[in-house]
Formats: sequence, structure tokens, C-alpha cells
Amino acid sequence: MAYYWFKAFHIIGVVVWFAGLFYLVRLFVYHAEAAEQPEPAQSILKNQYEIMEKRLYGIITTPGMIVTVAMAVGLVWTEPEVMKSPWLHAKLGFVGLLLIYHFYCGRILKKLAANECQWTGQQFRALNEAPTLLLVTIVMLAVFKNSLPTDLTTWLLVALVVVMAASIQLYAKKRKRDKLKAAESIADNPA
Ligand code: HEM
Repeated sequence: MAYYWFKAFHIIGVVVWFAGLFYLVRLFVYHAEAAEQPEPAQSILKNQYEIMEKRLYGIITTPGMIVTVAMAVGLVWTEPEVMKSPWLHAKLGFVGLLLIYHFYCGRILKKLAANECQWTGQQFRALNEAPTLLLVTIVMLAVFKNSLPTDLTTWLLVALVVVMAASIQLYAKKRKRDKLKAAESIADNPA
């Protein structure tokens, strides 16, 4: 029974952790793009995003990560033979990458607050695709375990996820270009 409790809260932790990671980097996009605003809007926006990022990271994202890892320890502790499974070894490798991503976001947060981050909004948008790929891989491993499917349908699904991620990037780029064009045409024809 304890195993099911750990698993339930492991999944709840995963949901909270990822909600935090996705929203955090979206805030980084807005924070970076605030630099394009004139003063005093720029300073007001940057201060507001800094507060939101700090609270999100400290109150949602990091606790989500702690719950996920703590419950995973509980799962392994109640059923130690699971540690012998190759799928779990592969999963731990990807979880390691996810943890590096989590702490790297924490570093970016500090750099943004100190006005020392040179990343553009577009670069943050691209960065936000990394947890999506890790989420898909880790969940596939957790669900299919050692019989991860490699048939055509699976590859089509993987291709669909990649196409969707690329479309989001291209659409964001197009919107930015259109906005810039509109601003230029207003500047050229003020009347
Ligand atoms: C901290 C490292 C982690 C360890 C040691 C770990 C270990 C485990 C174990 C032992 C199970 C139970 C498997 C079963 O009984 O079927 C499990 C389930 C699961 N894990 Fe993890 N996990 C970790 C991190 C993660 C992360 C980061 C995610 C999501 C991105 C994740 C997603 C899941 C899901 C969705 C399940 C439910 C699978 C199912 O019931 O079919 N885990 N995990």
C-alpha cells in the first residue's frame, strides 16, 4: 500500500515541478523582452517579473522537485529490486539532466535579477522546449519500462512532438517580426 501512496505523490510532485519549470522560463521570456520597453515601464516590469520568478521558483518549482525526488526515494525504498531495472537506470540519466536544467534556471533567475543576463526572449523560448523533451522521454520510460516501443506509430508520435515544438518557435518568431514591422510603419507614417 505504501508503494501506491509514494507513486501517487511522486506523480503529483512531477505535475507541480513541471508546471513551475514551464511557467518560470515563460516569465524569463517576458523579463528579457521588458528590455525593449521605454523607462519607467522597463524597470517596473523587470522588478515585477523578478518577484514573480523568485516566488515561483521558491514556492512551487523547487518544492515540486523535492516532493518528486523524495517520493521516488520512497518507491525505491519500499521496492528495492526496482533498482535493478535497466529502464530505471536510463530514467535516472534523464532525471539527472532535468535536475541540471532546474538548477541552471535558478542561476539564470539570479543573473536576470542582477541585470547580467544577455539571453533574448527567443533564446528563452527555445530553452523552454528542453523540459518538454525530457518530460516525454521520462514518462515514456516510466510507463513502458523495458519494453519501450520503437514501431512506426511511436516514431510518428515523436515526430509530431518535434513538429509542434518547432511550430511554436516559428510562430513566436513570426509574431515578433510582424510586431516590429507594425512599429516601423507607425514610425515612418506618424500621421
Ligand atoms: C528522482 C528520480 C526518480 C526515480 C528514482 C523514479 C522512480 C520511479 C519508480 C520506482 C516508479 C514506479 C514504477 C512502477 O511501479 O510502475 C516511478 C513511477 C513514475 N515516475 Fe518516476 N522516478 C524519478 C523521477 C521521475 C520524474 C522526474 C518523472 C517525470 C518527468 C517521473 C515520472 C513517473 C511517472 C509518470 C510514473 C508512473 C508510471 C506508472 O505507474 O506507470 N519520475 N518512478
